[in-house]
Amino acid sequence: MPAIGVFDSGVGGLSVLRALRQALPHERFVYVADAGYAPYGERDVAHVLARASAIGHYLVEVHHVKALVVACNTATAAAIATLRATYPLLPIVGVEPALKPAAAQSRTGVVGVLATLSTLASEKFQTLLKAQSSAVRFVLQACDGLAAAIERADPAQIDALCRRYTAALGPVGSAPGCIDTVVLGCTHYPFVSDVLQGLLGPEVTLLDAGWPVAQRTAQLLGSLNASVNRPDSGLDASPLLELWTTGEPDALQVAARQWIKSDVLAHKALIE
Ligand code: DGL
Repeated sequence: MPAIGVFDSGVGGLSVLRALRQALPHERFVYVADAGYAPYGERDVAHVLARASAIGHYLVEVHHVKALVVACNTATAAAIATLRATYPLLPIVGVEPALKPAAAQSRTGVVGVLATLSTLASEKFQTLLKAQSSAVRFVLQACDGLAAAIERADPAQIDALCRRYTAALGPVGSAPGCIDTVVLGCTHYPFVSDVLQGLLGPEVTLLDAGWPVAQRTAQLLGSLNASVNRPDSGLDASPLLELWTTGEPDALQVAARQWIKSDVLAHKALIE
C-alpha cells in the first residue's frame, strides 16, 4: 500500500501529521524531518527550494509515495510551485497561514500572524495577504529563532522568545482595536500553543492549519479514488508510519512520542 509523504524542516510537521492520522486513520505515512538542514525560516529561498526538491525526490523515488504533504509554511511558500511542476501527476498539498479563517472569526477585526521571516517575506504570503478583506487589519510578526528553540526542546528559550514576540504584537484581547485572533503560521508553533495562550490570555483564539490541511488531503485523495477507507487486510507488512530525519533520530523520536503518541523508531536518512 503506497504511503503519503509528509515533510518539514524538523518536528513541526508532526502537528500536521497528527491531524492527517486522525483524518486518514488507515493510510500509511512516511515523515521526513530535514533537521540536518534546519531551520528553514531564516534561510534564503534557494536553500529551502533545494532542500524541498531533494526531499520531494527522495519521497517519490525511494518511498514511491502516492501523495505529498508539504507540512511547512516556509517550504510551501518557497517550493510548492516547483514541486507541482516537477511531479504534475502527484497530488501535492501545502500549508499556508490561516488568514481567511482568522479574518472570518475575528470580532475586533485585528488579527496577529506569527510566522517565519521567510514565510512573511514570500510572494505567496504577500499575495494571500492582499486577497483578504480590507476590513481586517493584520499585524505580522516574524519569530526568528522560535522554530529552532522548539526543535531543541529548550523551554527557557521558548519562553523568552514567545514573550518577546507576543509583546511585539501590541494590545490583545476583546476590546476594540485589540488583536483577538492569532494565526500560527509555522507548523512548529502549535507545540508551544500553551505558552502562547498563557501570554496572550484566554480571550485570544489561536488558529493553525493542521486540520484544514488534513481535510484537504482527504478530499483530494477521495476525489482521485486513492484513499484507503478500511484497515489493511494484513497482507501488507509495511508499518503505518515511518519516521526519517536528516538530523538526530533521537530528537525526532522523542518529539513523536510526545506530540503524536507514537513509539515508532526514527531512522537517519541521507538526502543530498
Ligand atoms: N515549520 C516550518 C514552517 O511551517 C519552518 C520552521 C523553520 O525551519 O524555520 O514554516
